[in-house]
Amino acid sequence: MTSKKPKAETQVVRAGVNKARNAGIVNTPVFHASTVVFESVAALRAASDRVFKKHEKVLFYGRRGTPTHWTFQEAISDLEGAAETFLTPSGLSACTLAILGCVKAGDNILVTDSAYEPTRTFCDGLLAALGISTTYYPPTVGAGIAALMKPNTTVIFAEAPGSHTFEMQDLPALAKAAHARDALLLVDNTWASPLFCQPLALGADVSIQAATKYIVGHSDALIGTIAVNDRARSGVGRAVSQIGIVVAPDEVYLATRGLRTLAVRLKQHQANAMVVAKWLQQQPEVKRVLYPALPEDPGHAIWKRDFSGASGLLGMVFHRTSDAAVAAMIDGMTLFPLGFSWGGFESLIAPSHPSEARTAETWAEPEPGVRLHIGLEHTDDLIADLAAGLARFRDALG
Ligand SMILES: Cc1ncc(COP(=O)(O)O)c(C=O)c1O
Repeated sequence: MTSKKPKAETQVVRAGVNKARNAGIVNTPVFHASTVVFESVAALRAASDRVFKKHEKVLFYGRRGTPTHWTFQEAISDLEGAAETFLTPSGLSACTLAILGCVKAGDNILVTDSAYEPTRTFCDGLLAALGISTTYYPPTVGAGIAALMKPNTTVIFAEAPGSHTFEMQDLPALAKAAHARDALLLVDNTWASPLFCQPLALGADVSIQAATKYIVGHSDALIGTIAVNDRARSGVGRAVSQIGIVVAPDEVYLATRGLRTLAVRLKQHQANAMVVAKWLQQQPEVKRVLYPALPEDPGHAIWKRDFSGASGLLGMVFHRTSDAAVAAMIDGMTLFPLGFSWGGFESLIAPSHPSEARTAETWAEPEPGVRLHIGLEHTDDLIADLAAGLARFRDALG
């Protein structure tokens, strides 16, 4: 045995496994539970002390978690380097509860202009109604964020890279600016997954995953994770517990099972996405491929410094485009179905209109663009499908 921290590939396989807790079973079974019964009042009191005072993981009541939940939580904490991980029923609720747990009425938060649109809707809707204001910042602002911080700014919320526009963000610079003013940095880390980026090690206080995407990996379950350091732990924990958030154990089981193959899947997503991205760069209709792993990408230097890999989600913008041309391309695809989400084993396509949500900075590229999720199919087949799609695009554009 060695005390050296295992590599990420080993961690995704081993993390959270607790044979003693699972009676020797490799995958922690699905514990369906609401009521847990106690032998006596003294036993209930002892369990209560262990749960609420010592923060131990013991069976108490279904909403407080079961071994199914703990296995997954411990695994994500290991991968993210977190003090604790809270689970939520979707990626969006992970974003919203993480923010809720770190603010109070009267605060201001800084949110990247490239944020996942429903996160913005929450900030402009429920959060505003609770008396918390949001200021959107240009995603590439870096250390310049200090000038945007108000005396009441308590949170910076980043997403790196943005899931439609793919700008990278200087997370260490954002963390430095946040901490200089006693604020917290929260990062939606879904694109890289905890395998390719660990925001807490870069200075962030909270790393959020829509585990729905790469961790589940099979497009059949919704789940979110909020990995926190000690600074964010009590606030986020209070929000999750007082609101009564709990994730069904079947979903947690699927996420844990998905996690075990995350490393091999992501490496293939990355390899396939790079082949497709390079091919797209050669196509005359394509003005720019939005993928930080490409050396030509404006965020490449930051990606190289802070990330150990790239996932399968990328964008492209055209020299000339129209809604009809993009529809002609998308509607005839055979290997790229049109659908929300990403991160499953399959390729997907969607039109992209980033400027509709922007307020801090204009998105200057021609619209609509196209977003692709590159799945695990053979790249020869994917490229043939895309070539036919671009021919339809060209014909429709005239
Ligand atoms: C970057 C990002 N964050 C969060 C979410 C929300 O995840 P979920 O669909 O699980 O609510 C998404 C979903 O597409 C996303 O792309």
